[in-house]
Amino acid sequence: MNMPLRAVGRHFLRRRCSRKFAPEQYWDTRHQTHQASRKAVGHVKLTDRQSAEQYEVKRSRLMDMIRRHCPETTSRSLLDAGCGIGLLTGAFVEQGFDVVGVDFSETAIERARAGGIRAQFSVSTLAGLNLDQQFDVITAVDVLLHVVDRREWHATLDALRRHLKPEGVLIILDWLDARVRRVQPHLRARSQRRYARALARASLHIVEHERFRLEHEGSTKDLLAVRCTDTK
Ligand SMILES: C[S@@+](CC[C@H](N)C(=O)[O-])C[C@H]1O[C@@H](n2cnc3c(N)ncnc32)[C@H](O)[C@@H]1O
Repeated sequence: MNMPLRAVGRHFLRRRCSRKFAPEQYWDTRHQTHQASRKAVGHVKLTDRQSAEQYEVKRSRLMDMIRRHCPETTSRSLLDAGCGIGLLTGAFVEQGFDVVGVDFSETAIERARAGGIRAQFSVSTLAGLNLDQQFDVITAVDVLLHVVDRREWHATLDALRRHLKPEGVLIILDWLDARVRRVQPHLRARSQRRYARALARASLHIVEHERFRLEHEGSTKDLLAVRCTDTK
């Protein structure tokens, strides 16, 4: 009996995903392959110009959201979680934040340091993050969708919560889908409901949600502002 085309696609995706996927190795290889180009961190099918335009849309949406939730006060520390090669880290520095960028790819962090951005950089998984500091703002831009393992994802949210000041704000840029599904070996879409439940487990809750479209990629992105439930 012939399998419908979508079922064949799902079958092959499951087979690809069930082979042990090693996220750190995948990302470090990708950073080595694409050097410091936007393909290392953006959509690989886009031209450099298209990718630059998309980054500009994301940057502007992010900055607006940050401004709404972190008015200019004396204390302006920001953790860029999963900073990659620092394409947005520099923009946070320009806004007057004292920035720490973290990524588990040594190659990405080397590139970010070489870019001359006035931030501190550190190599770590997000789940295993253990900085001796809490931040006013934490950004997780296009990174949580790449934490494909469910336990690692929960541990990552816990670690981000531990590094957030009680009155701080966590800004997540991600792709929320109607259902939870592994789209590619390195990419898992989650629903808003799943997010809300996982955040609640980490004593966090969504205070603002904005959806926008990335024309070149032909997809939507979700920007979440998240705060601590328990501010003690
Ligand atoms: C799509 S890129 C986005 C990078 C950056 N935020 C940006 O928007 O340019 C995802 C980055 O997250 C890093 N990453 C993925 N999973 C991670 C994890 N569990 N811990 C730390 N870094 C991770 C990858 O190495 C990669 O640099």
